[in-house]
Amino acid sequence: MAPAASIEQPGSTASFARSPLKATSILHRTPWRPPVATSAEGLYLTLEDGRTVLDAVGGAAVACIGNGHPAVRKALKDQVDKLSYVYNMQLSNEPAEELAKLLIEQSNGAFDLCGFVSGGTEAMEGVMKLARQYFYETKQPQRKNFIARHLSFHGNSIATLSLASHPTRRGPYEDILNHDNFHHVSPAYAKRFQKPDETEEQYVERLKQELEDKFLELGPDTVIGFVAETVVGATTGVVAAPKGYFKAMKSVCDKYGALFILDEVMSGMGRLGTLHAWESFGDNVAPDIQAVAKGLGGGYASIGAVLMSKKVADGIRDNAGLWKHGHTYQAHPLACVASLAVQKVIDEENLLENARMQGGYLGALLRERLDSPNAAAAPFVFDIRGGGAWWGVEFDFTGPEAARLDFKGQQFAMIVQARCLEKSLIVMGMTGGANISGTVGDHLMLSPAYNVTKEQVESIVNIFVESIEEVLREYAF
Ligand SMILES: Cc1ncc(COP(=O)(O)O)c(C=O)c1O
Repeated sequence: MAPAASIEQPGSTASFARSPLKATSILHRTPWRPPVATSAEGLYLTLEDGRTVLDAVGGAAVACIGNGHPAVRKALKDQVDKLSYVYNMQLSNEPAEELAKLLIEQSNGAFDLCGFVSGGTEAMEGVMKLARQYFYETKQPQRKNFIARHLSFHGNSIATLSLASHPTRRGPYEDILNHDNFHHVSPAYAKRFQKPDETEEQYVERLKQELEDKFLELGPDTVIGFVAETVVGATTGVVAAPKGYFKAMKSVCDKYGALFILDEVMSGMGRLGTLHAWESFGDNVAPDIQAVAKGLGGGYASIGAVLMSKKVADGIRDNAGLWKHGHTYQAHPLACVASLAVQKVIDEENLLENARMQGGYLGALLRERLDSPNAAAAPFVFDIRGGGAWWGVEFDFTGPEAARLDFKGQQFAMIVQARCLEKSLIVMGMTGGANISGTVGDHLMLSPAYNVTKEQVESIVNIFVESIEEVLREYAF
């Protein structure tokens, strides 16, 4: 990877976030050492240089109630005093049992059992193994294929990279990924891929047919399941499927006895204003198996969960009676107690309603300031989309107006992300979601905590829009 200095332009705003190039013993995920955060309160983070920054993206759509909530701090401290660790195959623990009970009760019958892991990738690994175990136990061992979608992300392990189809993240690993058991169909991304002469229903029908064709090609009784993010996260930037899509996909799975599986690592646990994203953005179709993570622990602990329907739970219970999968830190008491406290805060402070209300305001402000006829950025705004406390803005620089812009080899979304940080706002820029090969596309994501205030929404939009407009001005010739 190129050193930071070689990818910065002289005077680039990107240089602020990337410099100084301080020594570090961490192999970072950026070619520079990111600024160090030293403390935080709510949505505000204090950095090593004393600056305070406003986090408009909750890290990576994780910190759903902000930092330092007194109820979570107390729960964690009390738990440390009581019990810090047990190994899950020897002993269970109270917070884990209580959290599992809550997750099942909250699902109104959609889920019957759950298992805990330590994050999103582990949750998706657990999902895949549970789905395979289900068919192994129920005497269908010939089922060995997963069908997922292009332009998706399900985690960074070898198996989850194989499952998803994210060209840049797969890049160096392509040759060691599993190409035999993992297959892909088109994304459900109407604004880019619906044909001009197609209605929404026809588009859904085409995608349904494609899935059915893939089942037939593989042999319908070899398919374990179809896997999708209910709303696609960082790959394409908060992209929801067209109406009726999930109902159609589930009908294909049901027809051939395969499982319908949702990855709600990013979109779930309230991010879109409903506890599960499928309740608002997935035709209210409950999956057979679902992964959740980020909003489950809200950043207070590393935790993910695998939720399963009664059908799957019965298949396992009536046979092996146990999950043939596990990790040392699974159902960790501290992670579970933190998660339990986060979920109670969301409920007691009515934060899903706040996420819907302030999120709606955030979306309206973004549209007004970026995409109204007089907005400076409007010619380059391809789409503004989202719901609850999760919004994406996709830019497109293929139109005639873009001929007067030159980003000098840098990616627009990343320049804006850096400019926002310079102005003390954290947002997330992502690239490459606008075509299947992942070579074009710029989008930015906002996913503040569910307890974001109206004033904070306004500050976020002000700095965000200012940064976008500045960058557009500075790179025009
Ligand atoms: C949809 C989805 N699945 C899985 C993951 C992987 O989660 P983690 O980074 O916690 O391993 C992510 C992370 O962003 C995600 O967005």
